[in-house]
Amino acid sequence: MKNLLVIQSSGRVTRSITRQLADCFIQRWRVNHPDAAVTIRDVGLIPPPAVNEAWIAAAFVADTPAAEGPLALSEELIAELEAADVVVIAAPMYNFGLPAQLKAYFDQIVRVGRTFAFDPTQEIPYQPLLEDKPVVALISVGDGAILPGGELAHLNHLEPHLRTILAFIGLHDLSYIRAGYDEYQDGRARRSFERAEAEVDRVVARLALPQPLVTPQPRLRP
Ligand SMILES: Cc1cc2nc3c(=O)[nH]c(=O)nc-3n(C[C@H](O)[C@H](O)[C@H](O)COP(=O)(O)O)c2cc1C
Repeated sequence: MKNLLVIQSSGRVTRSITRQLADCFIQRWRVNHPDAAVTIRDVGLIPPPAVNEAWIAAAFVADTPAAEGPLALSEELIAELEAADVVVIAAPMYNFGLPAQLKAYFDQIVRVGRTFAFDPTQEIPYQPLLEDKPVVALISVGDGAILPGGELAHLNHLEPHLRTILAFIGLHDLSYIRAGYDEYQDGRARRSFERAEAEVDRVVARLALPQPLVTPQPRLRP
């Protein structure tokens, strides 16, 4: 049994490419793992609140009871992430980076003393605290030239940002499935979507195989 957490973040409900890819992933996953729990966290439909004065104050007090008060949602989201064996993040590109609702999600789960440790006396003060597990990012962009290898790839801040945040909390095993050219609505968009769907099949099949032992990652350099 492999439990799957799917984080949806598109603001669109209809015509969303990342939602279609996530649905496809879930469908294939259920075939391979009929007993697995599938949890869907839809931050596109219900965005987490931005962190505020109360949240930040509570996060930096080591003995705050997290299950209630300003950190309650953060705690719930982190517990969900910890319970998953595999995580899928459906991430559209908005203005060259993460949608605000997905950034709000990460602001809730990246928490000192909970998902990363900070010790200013160490040479490398940051230590990720989550156990590594496979994360699959389903990316969709309006202009495929912004994907790796394309002539606008230098404008893609979504993928490096995702990789940095996830590695910071200990999730290093990240793969991307990408669709492009949504804004063009032409053959390139269709072909790109079909390739992404085929890649979903391959990734689900790969994840159904016994996974290699995860090598512990070194402390992060800032
Ligand atoms: C607010 C907004 C900002 C966008 N910014 C970009 C962008 O910077 N670069 C790009 O290639 N496409 C951009 N797009 C296009 C989306 O990335 C594309 O439509 C993608 O398929 C959206 O994901 P979804 O289909 O799951 O909703 C933007 C779309 C929206 C709605």
